[in-house]
Amino acid sequence: MRCNTKLPPISSLGTALVLLMSLASIASSCTEQEKASLLKFLAGLSQDGGLAASWQNDTDCCMWEGITCSMDGTVTDVSLASKSLQGHISPSLGDLTGLLRLNLSNNLLAGGLPQELVFSDSIIAIDISFNRLEGELHEMSSSTPVRPLKVLNISSNLFTGQFPSSTWGAMKDLAALNASNNSFTGPLPTDFCTSFPSLAVLELSYNRFRGSIPPELGSCSMLRVLKVGHNNLNGTLPDELFNATLLEFLSFPRSGLQGTLQDTNIDKLTFLATLDLGENNFSGKIPESIGHLKRLEELHLDNNNMYGELPSALTNCTNLITIDLGRNSFSGQLTKVNFSNLPNLMSLDLMRNNFSGTIPESIYSCTNLIALRLSSNKFHGQLAKQLGNLKSLSFLSLYNNNLTNITNALQILGSTKNLTALRIGRNFRHETMPEDDIIGSFENLRFLEIGDCPLFGKIPFWISKLANLEILILSNNQLTGSIPPWIKALSYIFHLNISNNSLTGEIPIELTDMPTLKSAKVDANLNPRVFILPVYPALSHQYRQPLAFPKLLDLSNNKFTGEIPLEIGQLKALLALNCSFNDLTGQIPESICNLTNLQALDLSNNNLRGAIPAALNSLHFLAAFNVSENDLEGPIPSGGQFNTFGTSSFDGNTKLCGSMLIHKCGSAEAAPATILSTKQTDYKVAFVIAFSAFFGVGVLYDQIVLSRYFG
Ligand SMILES: *[C@@H]1O[C@H](CO)[C@@H](O)[C@H](O)[C@H]1NC(C)=O
Ligand SMILES: *[C@@H]1O[C@H](CO)[C@@H](O)[C@H](O)[C@H]1NC(C)=O
Ligand SMILES: *[C@@H]1O[C@H](CO)[C@@H](O)[C@H](O)[C@H]1NC(C)=O
Ligand SMILES: *[C@@H]1O[C@H](CO)[C@@H](O)[C@H](O)[C@H]1NC(C)=O
Ligand SMILES: *[C@@H]1O[C@H](CO)[C@@H](O)[C@H](O)[C@H]1NC(C)=O
Ligand SMILES: *[C@@H]1O[C@H](CO)[C@@H](O)[C@H](O)[C@H]1NC(C)=O
Ligand SMILES: *[C@@H]1O[C@H](CO)[C@@H](O)[C@H](O)[C@H]1NC(C)=O
Ligand SMILES: *[C@@H]1O[C@H](CO)[C@@H](O)[C@H](O)[C@H]1NC(C)=O
Ligand SMILES: *[C@@H]1O[C@H](CO)[C@@H](O)[C@H](O)[C@H]1NC(C)=O
Ligand SMILES: *[C@@H]1O[C@H](CO)[C@@H](O)[C@H](O)[C@H]1NC(C)=O
Ligand SMILES: *[C@@H]1O[C@H](CO)[C@@H](O)[C@H](O)[C@H]1NC(C)=O
Ligand SMILES: *[C@@H]1O[C@H](CO)[C@@H](O)[C@H](O)[C@H]1NC(C)=O
Repeated sequence: MRCNTKLPPISSLGTALVLLMSLASIASSCTEQEKASLLKFLAGLSQDGGLAASWQNDTDCCMWEGITCSMDGTVTDVSLASKSLQGHISPSLGDLTGLLRLNLSNNLLAGGLPQELVFSDSIIAIDISFNRLEGELHEMSSSTPVRPLKVLNISSNLFTGQFPSSTWGAMKDLAALNASNNSFTGPLPTDFCTSFPSLAVLELSYNRFRGSIPPELGSCSMLRVLKVGHNNLNGTLPDELFNATLLEFLSFPRSGLQGTLQDTNIDKLTFLATLDLGENNFSGKIPESIGHLKRLEELHLDNNNMYGELPSALTNCTNLITIDLGRNSFSGQLTKVNFSNLPNLMSLDLMRNNFSGTIPESIYSCTNLIALRLSSNKFHGQLAKQLGNLKSLSFLSLYNNNLTNITNALQILGSTKNLTALRIGRNFRHETMPEDDIIGSFENLRFLEIGDCPLFGKIPFWISKLANLEILILSNNQLTGSIPPWIKALSYIFHLNISNNSLTGEIPIELTDMPTLKSAKVDANLNPRVFILPVYPALSHQYRQPLAFPKLLDLSNNKFTGEIPLEIGQLKALLALNCSFNDLTGQIPESICNLTNLQALDLSNNNLRGAIPAALNSLHFLAAFNVSENDLEGPIPSGGQFNTFGTSSFDGNTKLCGSMLIHKCGSAEAAPATILSTKQTDYKVAFVIAFSAFFGVGVLYDQIVLSRYFG
């Protein structure tokens, strides 16, 4: 095309565009009937995401936003994913006689899915995933002629009812059916592949299907992807299923299945890339034939009852990227598997099994390893130098084994530059915490747990160099000495647990000056990167990111003396403060009432004197409170959360009085003004909200942690 050289390039481009567009409109102009069908669809929307601006009756609808036409002007595609559309889907779209593809994914559409679309005699792909569509899917009458639909994605909606089955006989071409994340009930449909011989993708996960896996699925000879996890199924994987030999994804996590993996079955699925049977009741061993799965990349058998040694044949699955066998009863040494042959391995999780022996050195040649969790097994011995080869390692948990030589372990680990989370507690029994400067700098460490050993020694100076540390757990050791003043140099720490040691001295003023605990705003600076694997601080729950840990200071069960510093009131971000079981004296500082985010406060079993500050009743989120076994006196505050605490919170303080205690307050020690008593109900509400936030969102910790930290 010749351009007018006097025009700036931008307008010449514009001219060209206009020209092109008008050319196109000459070539292809949609029919009035198609226009009318589309406008009816538009009229059914209560929120059109700005479509109306381009969908003008006096223009060619092939030019409209989201519409594509064929050369002859027939509307073939309606592509309106992620346009914030609200309202319902008009059946009028079914009148577009040449429509091939309809994509309305990720909008806010409600109402039903018009039958006219599913049973259209032109449409080959419908994607209405991620909407709020509801109702049941219709059966199709058996006389319906063959329909061309190939892809149907209705996932992540609110569909209910039984899944229509036998009468879908006309869907001979259906290749992909995705109905995940709805509320379908009843049995899994049995005759998918008599109806849909070309079915390649079947995804039904996150529904409420019941019953067993129909053996008929095995006749889906084209099936590549089968995902049915998170349902309420029972029974086993039927032998027939393994006739679907093209399977690449076989995924049934958390679906109530049991049985064993048969050598002769696994054998057949030579194309398998993902095998996910986690969180079921499978038992038995991993069959040797797993070695035939040369393409296997992901193996998830976690949370089952499987046992035995890992088969040496696993060494042949050289493409493995993820191995998750946690929470089973696997045992034996790992020496049969030569991990050197798994160069792609990025995540190996063997937690809570019964593996023994030393950590096999071949693991150290998996240089792509990002996450390694061997916790709660019976590994012994020292870490090998070659662990330092794992330059990508970001998450390492060796918690609860029988490893020895902590000095050696820390020296090796200190140089793994990418390590962000390290759990090595409950090992190194009765060793001494190394203090040497030879310990590396753990440049990126954010989570460090060395608890439950017990270790002798002091809180070591090398910890002061962990500039990015956010969570430090040294509880249940026998550390002595005082809290070092350099503690405040750890400017990102928000969870510090040094409980149950033999630490002495006063609570240093520096501890009340911890930057991240002083202001909730600092959160923004914290790195929200998720843990590669979830961290389990207690049996019942998991944290996927460090920020999910509560902002906590746990100094309990030590030998701290002196008074609680007034400056404690600066730690405004604190959710939990535990100073119980020490030898603290003096009064409860009034400034504690400034800790307005506090949900748990335990000062029990000290020698505290004086009154309980009345203004503590203004801590609206306080859900656990304990000052028992001190020498406190005067009236117990009333109102606010104090109306929810039982007498056990105050036991062992003979000079306390209060309406709930046997010792009532006389006129001389009249209760302080119950400022908040008139608003009592409001605070009850606040309390309920605070607690639903705990349990609902799971961001904070539940009673199990409370009892762990405050039990
Ligand atoms: C669009 O225009 C046609 C005639 O050009 C008219 O018949 C029809 O009613 C119009 N539709 C709407 C929705 O305005
Ligand atoms: C629909 O559009 C979304 C967003 O562009 C895309 O991810 C999805 O694959 C499309 N669906 C189909 C069936 O092509
Ligand atoms: C819906 O599922 C189909 C078939 O599995 C798939 O091609 C499409 O990408 C999915 N859509 C979205 C938004 O993921
Ligand atoms: C099913 O659709 C969901 C979106 O809701 C998508 O994430 C998933 O990948 C799809 N499954 C398959 C097998 O395409
Ligand atoms: C299920 O759908 C809801 C609502 O669209 C969505 O928020 C959620 O992420 C989906 N869950 C899964 C597992 O896809
Ligand atoms: C399907 O599997 C069953 C049981 O494993 C077997 O008896 C049958 O021969 C297989 N059918 C085909 C067609 O491979
Ligand atoms: C493990 O595999 C590596 C690489 O294939 C090989 O060099 C080594 O000899 C093997 N080790 C054993 C014990 O078989
Ligand atoms: C673990 O192995 C030991 C022997 O090493 C055995 O006595 C014990 O029963 C095993 N525990 C489980 C849970 O399998
Ligand atoms: C270490 O982590 C950084 C940031 O996450 C990443 O870019 C880098 O590739 C990692 N290094 C190795 C050796 O994996
Ligand atoms: C740990 O190993 C030591 C020897 O290294 C052994 O005496 C002890 O019994 C082991 N403890 C456990 C719990 O396996
Ligand atoms: C522990 O490790 C250190 C450093 O690697 C080493 O010098 C020391 O000999 C080891 N101690 C034992 C008992 O093996
Ligand atoms: C305190 O730590 C010791 C180990 O040093 C442990 O045996 C004990 O059970 C712990 N006590 C509490 C209350 O956790």
